Order: sequence, then C-alpha cells, then structure tokens
Amino acid sequence: MKAILPLIIFLLLINLNQLVLATERDQALFNQGKTVYEKVCITCHNYLPPPKNAPPMVGVSGHYHQTFTDREQAVSHIANFIQQPTKAKSKLPPMAINTWGLMPPLALPLAAEEVQAVSYWVWEIYNIECTPSTKLFFCQHFQQK
Ligand code: HEC
Repeated sequence: MKAILPLIIFLLLINLNQLVLATERDQALFNQGKTVYEKVCITCHNYLPPPKNAPPMVGVSGHYHQTFTDREQAVSHIANFIQQPTKAKSKLPPMAINTWGLMPPLALPLAAEEVQAVSYWVWEIYNIECTPSTKLFFCQHFQQK
C-alpha cells in the first residue's frame, strides 16, 4: 500500500494537469482570431454595444455561452455558421435576424485556419469580459438564465 501511494498521487497530478490544459486558453489561436475579427468582422460587428449593423460580438459570445457548455461544440457551430449562414442554424434570439437580417455570406472566403481561429476568439471573449472580476454591466444580461 505504501509503495502505491506515490503512484496514485503521480497519476492524480497528471490528470489535474490535463484538466488545466483542456481549459487553458490557446493564446496564439486567440490572437490570430482577433486579427481576423479586426480585418473582416468589425465592418458589421462592434465588440461592445452600441451595435453597428450586426449584434456586438460580446453579445454574440454571451448567447453562445447560454446555448453551449462545450467549447468544441460551440466553436464548430460558429465555424459552420460563418461559412454558410442560415436562419435554421441561428442560436441568437429571433430579434437578431428580425432587426439586422441574416448574416450575409462573407465577401471573401477565409482560410480554414482563420475560420477556426475567429470562431475560437468569438467563444473566448465572453470568458474574458464576463468573469466575476471584470464583469461588464452588459454581461449581467446573459447571466440571468
Ligand atoms: C456584412 C455584415 C457582417 C459581417 C462582415 C460579419 N457578420 Fe456576423 N452577423 C451579421 C449579422 C447581421 C448577424 C445577425 C443575424 C444572424 O444571426 O444571422 C450576424 C451574426 C453572427 C453570429 C451569430 C450567428 C447566429 O445567429 O447564431 C456569429 C457567430 C457571427 N455573426 C460571426 C461573425 C464573424 C466571426 C465574422 C467575421 C469572420 C462576421 N460575423 C462577419 C453580419 C455580419
């Protein structure tokens, strides 16, 4: 029993480490996503309210956090939507499409890597802006589930 204890502790630590890695932000991917946003999406999406001619991105992210709990599923849904938006795929409240119309297809297709990065960025900005310590007033709207 005594001999096995260090082994158990070792295995527990490995597990913990993997957990941290799984939830850690991939900063390089995030930064790449931000660049794509600033190049392409910002034409329509402000980062925060007031909206331009599309819902603000932190709001979009908030609605995705209300719908999805799993980052991978959310990111893959966003990636799919932005490459071919349809009303059926929308996860925003119906007022979004009623107000601004369905998001048009992107004028220039993005590289697969850029799609992945910007989708990841959209998901992660909520985690940055809406943590308890940096809570924006705007975030409270999404936290009243
Ligand atoms: C020409 C304007 C325009 C551009 C450029 C644009 N969007 Fe949008 N987007 C919209 C509008 C309008 C909506 C709201 C209606 C809707 O949801 O389709 C929207 C909605 C969205 C949604 C929510 C989809 C849903 O309904 O579930 C996501 C995610 C999104 N945009 C991401 C992006 C990203 C990422 C980019 C840049 C790569 C981008 N958009 C560029 C106009 C635009």
